[in-house]
Amino acid sequence: MSILVTGGTGFIGSHTCVELLEAGYDLVVFDNFYNSKPSVLDSIVDITGKGFKFYHSDMNDIGDLEKIFSDNDIDCVIHFAGFKAVGESVEKPLMYYSNNITGTLNLLNVMKDHNVKKLVFSSSATVYGVPKKVPLTEDMPLSVTNPYGRTKLMIEDILRDLCVSDPEWSVLLLRYFNPVGGHKSGLLCEDPNGIPNNLMPRILDTAFGIQEKLTVFGNDYDTVDGTGVRDYIHVTDLAKGHVNAARKLDAFRGIEAVNLGTGRGYSVLELIKTFERVNNVSVPFEFAPRRPGDVAECYADTKKAYDFLGWKAELGIEDMCRDSYVARVNHSGRSDEE
Ligand code: UFG
Repeated sequence: MSILVTGGTGFIGSHTCVELLEAGYDLVVFDNFYNSKPSVLDSIVDITGKGFKFYHSDMNDIGDLEKIFSDNDIDCVIHFAGFKAVGESVEKPLMYYSNNITGTLNLLNVMKDHNVKKLVFSSSATVYGVPKKVPLTEDMPLSVTNPYGRTKLMIEDILRDLCVSDPEWSVLLLRYFNPVGGHKSGLLCEDPNGIPNNLMPRILDTAFGIQEKLTVFGNDYDTVDGTGVRDYIHVTDLAKGHVNAARKLDAFRGIEAVNLGTGRGYSVLELIKTFERVNNVSVPFEFAPRRPGDVAECYADTKKAYDFLGWKAELGIEDMCRDSYVARVNHSGRSDEE
């Protein structure tokens, strides 16, 4: 019995493959390398000492999906594959809907045909839209502000409809907060193609001199120091949440949404200062006006993750800053042409 991991060479997907292999699961990994590199496969093997089957293909290739399910005894699927850049989704909505929605429908149809009805879906705190209060609980109203977020919410809705139509399905919607960090070996890290939008990759670019100064968007929020507060979570903790989720799929039927965050928010300035102290580097910054669409504070209520999945984040903000930096230092020396 194997777990199929779609998008298994991406940032969260690759860390999840490591944790699943270390927990003893057999894996079939699938990716089109749109936002990742083939060398990630070697890193997963180097870290775990374990092998797995890999398919280089695309969610829109139904023939390949069919072949994967025919050739392997798949027990459940962890579905990461999807485009994830908010700005790009505004510029190219059709590309986002085609890839994220059509790709997921293809996967679900093939799963159904092969009687595989256990799924963990990679959702996002983005489905809470502009939060009216924090911490965010899973039963709060959902809304979205961009095509990327809409694909996440649409897929959540599609999966709810599917579970109503057929009570044999077991589906977990994992809503991630702000993943950062990298594997402690230094072999896996966030490596976005193009110019990064998120805070930690930009802090890293600034620390490495790729970017002269970090722009801090807004210092007039009603927060501890005026800058935006987010629930940063170490990617290894997040990955471990998927191991608990995979176990849980055997123990329930229906659909549940679960927040994966730490429950603790940090401001932009707190993150910068911690990063500088832990890594003994300088991150010059300047203030700029608020970024459109940003909210003051966003952090998770983590009770359901603990009660339902038996999971809670273990690593703190210092681990996140250190491991992000170490992974980037190591990663700079690794090449895909090796
Ligand atoms: N920020 C800066 N400067 C930057 C980048 C970010 O000050 O160069 C600030 C933002 O204003 C915000 C905080 O850092 O206050 C975090 O911003 P990110 O872009 O890293 O993360 P967001 O919380 O805006 O967005 C993330 C994911 C989205 C997801 C959203 C909600 O990137 O995909 O969380 O869960 F939709």
